[in-house]
Amino acid sequence: MNLTLDFNDPDLIADPYPFYEKLRTEKPVFRTNFGTQKVIVVSRFPDVAKILNDKDTLVNKLGTNKPDQFRNSPAGMLWRNAISRMDPPEHTDLRRAVSKQFTLKNLSFLKPSIEKITQNVFNDLDSTRIDVVDEVATKIPLLVICNLLGIPKDDWQKLQKSTDLFLKIFLPDRLSWEEVEDVNSASQYFIEYFSDLIKHTQKNPDSNLTSDLINGPLRAGSVSIEQLIGLLRGLFTAGFETTAATISASFLAFSKQKDQFEQMRFKESTIPNAVNEILRWETPVQAMIRYASKDLKLGNFAVGTGEALLLLTGSSNHDPMRYQTPNKINIFRDSTDHHAFGGGRHYCLGFHLAKLEIEAVLREMRNRFSEINLECVEIQRKPNLQFRSITTLPVRLVAK
Ligand code: HEM
Repeated sequence: MNLTLDFNDPDLIADPYPFYEKLRTEKPVFRTNFGTQKVIVVSRFPDVAKILNDKDTLVNKLGTNKPDQFRNSPAGMLWRNAISRMDPPEHTDLRRAVSKQFTLKNLSFLKPSIEKITQNVFNDLDSTRIDVVDEVATKIPLLVICNLLGIPKDDWQKLQKSTDLFLKIFLPDRLSWEEVEDVNSASQYFIEYFSDLIKHTQKNPDSNLTSDLINGPLRAGSVSIEQLIGLLRGLFTAGFETTAATISASFLAFSKQKDQFEQMRFKESTIPNAVNEILRWETPVQAMIRYASKDLKLGNFAVGTGEALLLLTGSSNHDPMRYQTPNKINIFRDSTDHHAFGGGRHYCLGFHLAKLEIEAVLREMRNRFSEINLECVEIQRKPNLQFRSITTLPVRLVAK
């Protein structure tokens, strides 16, 4: 078996699950090259869960080349202030300072506006033949996150364009000069944009998350202005790509498994479970990296201090030892322990928000349509497996 992992391989992107299955059965833990790094690939559910929850793993490795490439640049500033790139004690302090703002209680005031946004997007569909990605999946999370952060409608396009350029910072390889330039110009734009947004919100307080973060942790001094800029950038980027990917996947899932759609239509109370199943089945973030800060053991496999572990969450979420018939969605199974939101100290900060959005979409789907039919043979996806998402999804909707 070819054990080189190439996240740009079109066949792997189209369907990574047979390959993951081989890994889990033949080589569940092994060393290989990944971009310019040497990594240990981990593919079984219990092993991925163990590393995600292990306090002796970090997201940064000393001497890693990314901060070198970006040291004193705008990208370096955003990298250092990205909560997802922080380790304790900095991560613990920042997470503690902002987590109150992300509890279900704090976010539930958003439920009516999320439902309204979702209903409007469905009301605006002018045909029963639609491209799910353009007409539904990208719109809802973008409208919700902008509403949440107080970002005016006219600014979205530029922010979205900068997001695509900025995300190159997370590629595993050293970047080319052109890519470094792209990441830096996008970062400069983000820094200026979010500095202005903070100043504007300070002068014009509103009932949104930016105002809450300014009046809470920023005023209390538990978050610095650089950290707040980094956090707003992170929320904007993390807030729509992954949620959009899951919304597209829900249309795909119910067009393929019509019996499951029937069940959800029949019983509204299955919606929260269906959300978890779709997240597990699609896993928009298919892989994450951690570094061992101590010697560790995965069964008999010894991991040395400083080694990188590539956690294949797309694989762990399809491990039949944990989920029977994993390649099918089953809206009645309990899959709340899935790894689509990661695990341990970096567990997704926005998971309540994401679930509120996906639930609102499933509710509209079930209330409005009796069938979702796929209108294409091949599914078009973004060219990198790490952030798995569909780029266009033509479907025909049958109204109730
Ligand atoms: C279906 C939608 C989403 C998925 C699948 C998802 C997935 C993830 C995953 C896998 C991580 C952990 C990354 C790691 O450990 O390296 C994460 C972290 C994070 N997510 Fe999400 N996410 C979603 C939606 C959101 C939303 C809506 C927000 C906020 C508006 C958000 C904000 C964050 C933040 C700030 C972190 C970093 C937390 C930390 O490092 O402590 N996410 N997300």
